[in-house]
This record gives sequence, C-alpha cells and structure tokens, in this order.
Amino acid sequence: MATITVIGQGTAEFNGEFSLLEALDEQGFDMPYSCRGGNCGACEVKLISGEVELIQDPIYEPEQGHILTCSVIPVGDVEIELL
Ligand code: FES
Repeated sequence: MATITVIGQGTAEFNGEFSLLEALDEQGFDMPYSCRGGNCGACEVKLISGEVELIQDPIYEPEQGHILTCSVIPVGDVEIELL
C-alpha cells in the first residue's frame, strides 16, 4: 500500500488498482484523462517526489519529471501536482 498525495487536493491510498489514475478516480479525485492508454497526454502530471513503474508502454512522451497517471503505478509513496 502506498500513499498518493495530490498537491492542493489531498491524499489517496494505492491498493493495487490497475493504475495511479484508477486509484485516484475511484477515490473521488477529479483527475484529467482521456484515452487511458498512454496516447493522448491528457493525464500528464508533475511527479514531485517518489517513484513510479510503467504498466503500459505509452506512445505519448511526457516532459522530463512528468508522468502519465494512466500508465504508471506508484512504487511507495508519491506526490504529484496537476499541471
Ligand atoms: S489518459 Fe491519455 S495518456 Fe493518459
């Protein structure tokens, strides 16, 4: 289990959901997304601290220091910030 902190919005727990996006979505966070498949970049956020692991191979390349919430899971506690 890992804690996900969304700067300015609060915290959520990651309990083995498919993706970081799914965990936040299920816990009532209003996260941006569109394709959920790593293609569009709509779910791009800044990774402030912690590490994530890819769960699918995205076509869209996020900026350095950014992640696609639809395409990763947290490895331990993470802090993210919406763009
Ligand atoms: S929702 Fe499209 S890349 Fe994540």
